[in-house]
Amino acid sequence: MNDVLKTITQRNSLRKYKNKRISDEDLNLILESAMRAPTAGNQMLYSIILITKQELKDKLAISCDNQPFIKKAPLVMVFVADQQKWHDYYKLSDIDGYLKENNKLYRKPKESDFLLACEDALIAAQNTVIAAESLNIGSCYIGDILENFEYHKELLNLPEYATPITMICFGYYEDGYKTIRRDRFDRKYIVFENSYERLSDEKLEDMFKSREKLYVENNKYNAKNFGQMFYARKTGAEFSAEMERSVKEILKKWKE
Ligand SMILES: Cc1cc2nc3c(=O)[nH]c(=O)nc-3n(C[C@H](O)[C@H](O)[C@H](O)COP(=O)(O)O)c2cc1C
Repeated sequence: MNDVLKTITQRNSLRKYKNKRISDEDLNLILESAMRAPTAGNQMLYSIILITKQELKDKLAISCDNQPFIKKAPLVMVFVADQQKWHDYYKLSDIDGYLKENNKLYRKPKESDFLLACEDALIAAQNTVIAAESLNIGSCYIGDILENFEYHKELLNLPEYATPITMICFGYYEDGYKTIRRDRFDRKYIVFENSYERLSDEKLEDMFKSREKLYVENNKYNAKNFGQMFYARKTGAEFSAEMERSVKEILKKWKE
């Protein structure tokens, strides 16, 4: 296996970090890797906010569904889906004059532009994860940055067309750390050829068989099987309801 494949294969989400600052050299390599990611039309429709103030980390650890390990991460990055710069640049380029002269209307950034910027931001984000891993720096995505949009907007000074889309914690692996290889579904249920396959009940049962070992009887959710337990813990949980509310709020601006 080559080094790139080894790096991809050995990566696992890391939530406990060595108490060591990320070196400037490593940070530089990680950020350069982000910026080399493919990007729609070479527009770089994202911004990366480095969270270096402890006070901000502390606040994000609370607002992102109370995950205390966030405040202990030596480095935290927020990835922003960003159409603001191009929107402002078009204005600077007298787009209004151009449109008037050519009898056209301005097309403001909309949901499609938002999704494209999300693609850009997430692809750059994953490059940082892999680059970091190759430098013995572990990482963990924090999806909960999608919650509490109004608060994060204020906290990070975000303008109207800049939306935080993911957050990543980084830190060196502790000495002697042993990689945890977390189970994945079987490839035949993930990779299809030429068209989507809606899975039959039998196939779904087979797909989830290994996950069902994680079911705990007499759980606090009163769930009678793994599906019920997982739903109660994630999809039906309070944080998901907050994410739903917050994302609705995010989309309002892009739908205007
Ligand atoms: C979009 C996304 C959001 C995630 N959000 C969180 C999070 O908020 N907190 C956390 O501890 N892990 C989070 N994770 C990490 C996943 O739990 C982890 O990737 C998954 O359990 C598989 O484990 P592995 O990465 O070690 O293989 C997130 C991962 C992704 C891709």
